[in-house]
Amino acid sequence: MEWQRRAGRQDLPWQGSRDPYRIWLSEVMLQQTQVAAVIPYYERFLGRFPTIEALARADEEEVLRLWSGLGYYARGRNLHLAAQRIVSRYQGKFPQTSAALQELPGLGRSTAAAIAAFAFGERAAILDGNVKRVLARYCGIAGFPGDKKVEKKLWGFSEKFLPGKDIAIYTQALMDLGATVCVRANPRCDACPVRKTCVARKKGLTAKIPAPRPKKALPWKEATWWLMRHNGEVLLERRPSAGLWGGLWTFPESRPRGIEVTSRSELATLEHGFTHFKLRIRPVLCEVGRVRKAGPGMWIDLDEAKGAAVPTPVRTLLERIR
Ligand code: ADE
Repeated sequence: MEWQRRAGRQDLPWQGSRDPYRIWLSEVMLQQTQVAAVIPYYERFLGRFPTIEALARADEEEVLRLWSGLGYYARGRNLHLAAQRIVSRYQGKFPQTSAALQELPGLGRSTAAAIAAFAFGERAAILDGNVKRVLARYCGIAGFPGDKKVEKKLWGFSEKFLPGKDIAIYTQALMDLGATVCVRANPRCDACPVRKTCVARKKGLTAKIPAPRPKKALPWKEATWWLMRHNGEVLLERRPSAGLWGGLWTFPESRPRGIEVTSRSELATLEHGFTHFKLRIRPVLCEVGRVRKAGPGMWIDLDEAKGAAVPTPVRTLLERIR
C-alpha cells in the first residue's frame, strides 16, 4: 500500500471518485481491455450517459455505438441491461455488496469485488488476469491460472492476503503491480515492493510462472462480406441480438437480392480473432447501378457508417473503400 501511494497510478479518470456508477463503468470496460484503450471510450461514454438513469433510458443501439471498437460487445449490452435493472428494481441506487453486485448481468466475482472495494470499501478479494499472475509468482504456484484447480488456490491466497483496512488502496496496488511491474514478459523485479518474499523471484522462476495457456489451435471460420456501394452509400445489416456481434451492423453475408451490380472486385481478406475461433473475411466490393427493391438493412453514407455501431473489421473495410 505504501508502494501504491508512492509509485502506483494516481491519475486514471475513474480514480478519486467513489461514485459506484463511474467505478462500475470503468471496471466493465477494463475487463479484457487495457487502460490506454479504455480511457477515451470511458470519457465519451460518461459524457453521453453521466448517470445510471441516462444509461437506462438510452437505446441499445446508441450504447453499442459508443462501445463500437472496444470489442466484447456483450459487455455493452449487459451494462445497459444492468442499468435498467438497477433503475427499475433498486430505484437507481447501486447494490452495496459484492454478493449483490454479482447478481447483475456482466459482473463476475472479481469485477463485483473490485467495485465493492473501490466504491464501498468492502473487504472483498479480486482475481483478474493481472492479479492471477502476481499471486502465482509471489506464492510460486505453477500451472495455468485459468485451470480450475490453480484458480481455486489463487482465490484462497487472494482472500488470505486481504488487509484489515484501506481495501481500496490495497486493491489498486495489486492491479498496479500487475500492470506496471509484475508484467508478463521481463517483469521489473527491481522495482517490486515485495521482491524479497516472492517465491518465483527467489527460485528464478519468473519466466516460468505463470504457465501459459495450453496451446490448442483455434478453428477457422470463413465468411464472405458483400460491400454494396451506391451513390457514396453502403448497405449494412443489423445482426440478431443473440450471438456474434449481436445488435451491431455488418455487411451482408449473402448476396443481397433486388440490386443491380455493375462491377465487382474481391478485396484482400481480413482476419479477426475471437475467444473461441478465428474468422477469415472475404470482402467483395460491388458497385451498384440500381436498387430495384428495398430489402433488409439500411443504406448509410460511407462517412456516417464509421460512427455507427459497427465492429472493427467493418470499420477497417469502410476505411479501405472510402
Ligand atoms: N484494471 C481493472 N481495474 C482497474 C483499475 N481500477 N485501474 C487500473 N487498471 C484496472
